Amino acid sequence: MKFLASALLASVVSAASLIDTLTTAKANTLIALVKTAPAVLSAVPTFNGTLFAPTDDALAAVVKAGFNASDITALTNVLTYHLSATAFSGASFDGTGFLTTVQGNEVKASGSSAKGIKVSSAFGTPDANVVKTYPYDGGFVHVVDQVLIPPSNVVATAKAANLTSLVNAIVTAGLADTVSKLSGVTILAPTNAAFDAIADVAKTLTVEQLKQVLLLHVLPGNIHSTDIVKAKSIPAAATSATGQTLNVTFDGTNVLASGAGNKAAAKVLVADVLADKVLVHVIDTVLLPGAAPAYATTGLKVGSASGAALGVASALVAALVM
Ligand SMILES: *[C@@H]1O[C@H](CO)[C@@H](O)[C@H](O)[C@H]1NC(C)=O
Ligand SMILES: *[C@@H]1O[C@H](CO)[C@@H](O)[C@H](O)[C@H]1NC(C)=O
Ligand SMILES: *[C@@H]1O[C@H](CO)[C@@H](O)[C@H](O)[C@H]1NC(C)=O
Ligand SMILES: *[C@@H]1O[C@H](CO)[C@@H](O)[C@H](O)[C@H]1NC(C)=O
Repeated sequence: MKFLASALLASVVSAASLIDTLTTAKANTLIALVKTAPAVLSAVPTFNGTLFAPTDDALAAVVKAGFNASDITALTNVLTYHLSATAFSGASFDGTGFLTTVQGNEVKASGSSAKGIKVSSAFGTPDANVVKTYPYDGGFVHVVDQVLIPPSNVVATAKAANLTSLVNAIVTAGLADTVSKLSGVTILAPTNAAFDAIADVAKTLTVEQLKQVLLLHVLPGNIHSTDIVKAKSIPAAATSATGQTLNVTFDGTNVLASGAGNKAAAKVLVADVLADKVLVHVIDTVLLPGAAPAYATTGLKVGSASGAALGVASALVAALVM
């Protein structure tokens, strides 16, 4: 009898629609905003997956900070970033995971079911804590104490992360526009100190040579640190935009990356920084292209700078590897 009652109760509880569940969760500001965004409102009645529901206080704080909730395009962009078609319960969770949102970018979940789950969004914005979870018919509503902000383009993100030498090098190489428009790639982003360490050589590079060094840091696909840790090394994915092979591995403690010209591997200092459609890992060493033979046989997929590449390889190798 007792069992029957709780089974019944469970079915009653789980038979809630998403909007009823948001009402139960007292997400009143969110409900009001959803009603003003037609694209979101039309999706909600049949939406299956995960909804991160900011508290009224969290939404009030972003409005106070200048977010214009009457701008329906901006509002839709933010609200769709809170929806994922993947049903993430948060139960038995421990570690790091990524959910692709309806907005197109990922959010990062970290922590554990036992100690609390954090959700990270654009670089420099506060992590949101999951304060309560409500299962509903088609998935899960996680109430969060911060609004999730969609990531900015990678150049703006690099500026926000103080990667000024990298940004300057990108501008010098004439790549600002190209890099701003990159999508579905991973960028290994050297720190200012990493650029300082090659400053003498970097000064002597032609624009084309600098371009080849920078493009070596661009890998196709969103390669999360968790993918590398799981796979230990990812030879298949580690072909840079220049067509050169990088070694990207996990040594048990650190995620490491090296180009053929690097004597010591670069260490990932900050992993999984979310930029718009681009994943960034901050590294402590500038990656270097291979010496002449490897470079010549690999060929270049970007640009037609074998000669320039050879030049950069020998200059950098001479200066750094000897
Ligand atoms: C959501 O899931 C329910 C039940 O699992 C299913 O009937 C419905 O078609 C799904 N809705 C969408 C939009 O996929
Ligand atoms: C907010 O957005 C609306 C709609 O785009 C616009 O009319 C209004 O001027 C904006 N308010 C501010 C303060 O920018
Ligand atoms: C960037 O540099 C500024 C000024 O030095 C500093 O206040 C800020 O905390 C730095 N931000 C990061 C993310 O390192
Ligand atoms: C990658 O590592 C292997 C084995 O350690 C080594 O033989 C190879 O030269 C490395 N390749 C690059 C591009 O660093």
